[in-house]
Amino acid sequence: MSTDILEVPAEFAANALVDTAKYQEMYKRSIEDPEGFWGEHGKRIDWIKPYTKVKDVSYDASDLHIRWYEDGTLNVAANCIDRHLADKADQAAIIWEGDEPNVSRTITYRELHEQVCRLANAMKDLGVKKGDRVTIYMPMIPEAAYAMLACARIGAIHSVVFGGFSPESLHGRIEDCDSTVLITSDAGMRGGRHIPLKKNADEALEHCPNCKTVIVVQHTGDDVTMVEGRDHWYHDVTAAASPDCPPEEIGAEDPLFILYTSGSTGKPKGVLHTSGGYLVYASMTHEYVFDYKPGEVYWCTADVGWVTGHSYILYGPLANGATTLMFEGVPNYPNTSRFWDVVDKHKVNTFYTAPTAIRALMREGEDPVKKTDRSSLRLLGSVGEPINPEAWLWYHRVVGDERCPVVDTWWQTETGGILISPLPGATSLKPGSATLPFFGIKPVVVDNEHNDLEGATEGNLCIEDSWPGQMRTVYGDHERFIQTYFTTFPGRYFSGDGCRRDADGYYWITGRVDDVINVSGHRMGTAEVESALVAHSKVAESAVVGYPHDLKGQGIYAYVTLNAGEEPSEELRKELVQWVRKEIGPIASPDLIQWAPGLPKTRSGKIMRRILRKIAANEHDQLGDTSTLADPAVVDDLVENRMNRG
Ligand code: WTA
Repeated sequence: MSTDILEVPAEFAANALVDTAKYQEMYKRSIEDPEGFWGEHGKRIDWIKPYTKVKDVSYDASDLHIRWYEDGTLNVAANCIDRHLADKADQAAIIWEGDEPNVSRTITYRELHEQVCRLANAMKDLGVKKGDRVTIYMPMIPEAAYAMLACARIGAIHSVVFGGFSPESLHGRIEDCDSTVLITSDAGMRGGRHIPLKKNADEALEHCPNCKTVIVVQHTGDDVTMVEGRDHWYHDVTAAASPDCPPEEIGAEDPLFILYTSGSTGKPKGVLHTSGGYLVYASMTHEYVFDYKPGEVYWCTADVGWVTGHSYILYGPLANGATTLMFEGVPNYPNTSRFWDVVDKHKVNTFYTAPTAIRALMREGEDPVKKTDRSSLRLLGSVGEPINPEAWLWYHRVVGDERCPVVDTWWQTETGGILISPLPGATSLKPGSATLPFFGIKPVVVDNEHNDLEGATEGNLCIEDSWPGQMRTVYGDHERFIQTYFTTFPGRYFSGDGCRRDADGYYWITGRVDDVINVSGHRMGTAEVESALVAHSKVAESAVVGYPHDLKGQGIYAYVTLNAGEEPSEELRKELVQWVRKEIGPIASPDLIQWAPGLPKTRSGKIMRRILRKIAANEHDQLGDTSTLADPAVVDDLVENRMNRG
């Protein structure tokens, strides 16, 4: 753990949106008078009918509700496009950089308006109405952004499913929200490889009878099967549609999108975000955390399939009239200088990525970075998982030439936007710490007995009150929403993360304290991987835990008990890895499978994951209390086999 402190560079502070004093003053006000604070800052976006009520929230499990700006109306797409047309029509809204380095496109706000209107009209012509759920399964191409904004324009609810998910995962997500429309493309490209999205979609749709309309973008030109009456080419339907589509008037609390995310139990849940509060929060955090100045080029390397893509590629930046860069490719194609070549090519000012990418690039040494210019860079950001101080310092020194502050931003799909992060002109930095809360956010550190802990301490990270970008419910399952987030520590929002607070009040996120693991910045429920494994005919039982992994942060460690009569083999191990990839997607592939003749259980049959986590981490000398085990010999066997692998 590092205790270095990096002061805000003087020049940066002088030109920043907020300095230390202003942060403290605004933060104090936001906590003491949330209604007044958010009432004022809600005006940063355009409302059709202004709100008169700011906040109506109860965290009481018997009447749990979260409402912001509830009597206001607006249109999110109009905020992201139309309101910039007067003075930014010819400014780049999106710079798209393709997988191949010689392929890029610039889309101005005027063009964005036309594209989104055409698609919105085409969707209306195909019968899509306000409130309908539209699933988007797309590569990182501008049409993915058009699709999301077209939904927002007509009040349809989008559910973006990451292009790396399997047909089976896509099917589950389409079915859960009863989506009637799917927007996809022939294929996606990543590092020169084609990802057969339409083929995957066809497989998924075999099980989704209610999804009757498919719009297909022609991107790679790969051969695809078009189903008569169901499938429509994007270019045909948009060419036939009018380029003008008046934005629908949407209630602040009407849903904007559903995004599925993994939890500690069961299947992924549909996190529901609404329109007004979400946009206020996404745009405000984007402006303040990235100290965004008009005319700057901002690049977030996330995929639109994750919340980071929603809030910080699309909605936040576009609501602020920014130029946002969208990248289809990967950091190591055609070579490991790619990120920095793109920075130089498009004169990127702010660069926002995940620690896993930084660690992977760090391995390649400094040369691929140092041979590029990067003088346009002003600010660096990190998101998705804890960043180890070593990676932080490398990012700061090698990528940012010690000139660019690094903002380590902690947040979640559920939070809609950043909750804990430095503001680069206001906050001294400590490598590895997400530092201080954003306006309106009051973190509380709580022990397992529900006591609030004061001062320098460590415990479970909760948030005391609501903020406008907070999720409103789990789609179709409000009870699960209440159970997951508000019952462990009654009266608080529980993040599922642990944290440490140091003597300066800085927060250090220590990772999940529940059965969610974070693999390369992607959330994965151990229960999901387990249920995929036990669905295989040779598997009797399985327990999945995370373990420390140099590159991925956490790797997936699966203990597998085979059915009687089945023999472990290298071949079967490979088969099981393939099986999980097929069931969920490549991001869920187990890194290590250990054959387990038995799993450590309590006498009541509960698997003792705490012990399995220790064995996986090679910390077999710290197994803790094993006295409640039904059969202690099981543990000895597992330890011995883990040790044998080194
Ligand atoms: C983790 C991604 C440490 C955390 C925006 C959280 C982080 C989960 C950070 C949410 C960070 C995200 N430092 N941990 N800066 N950012 N996390 O929903 O465990 O995909 O609960 O949202 O990622 O992942 P999600």
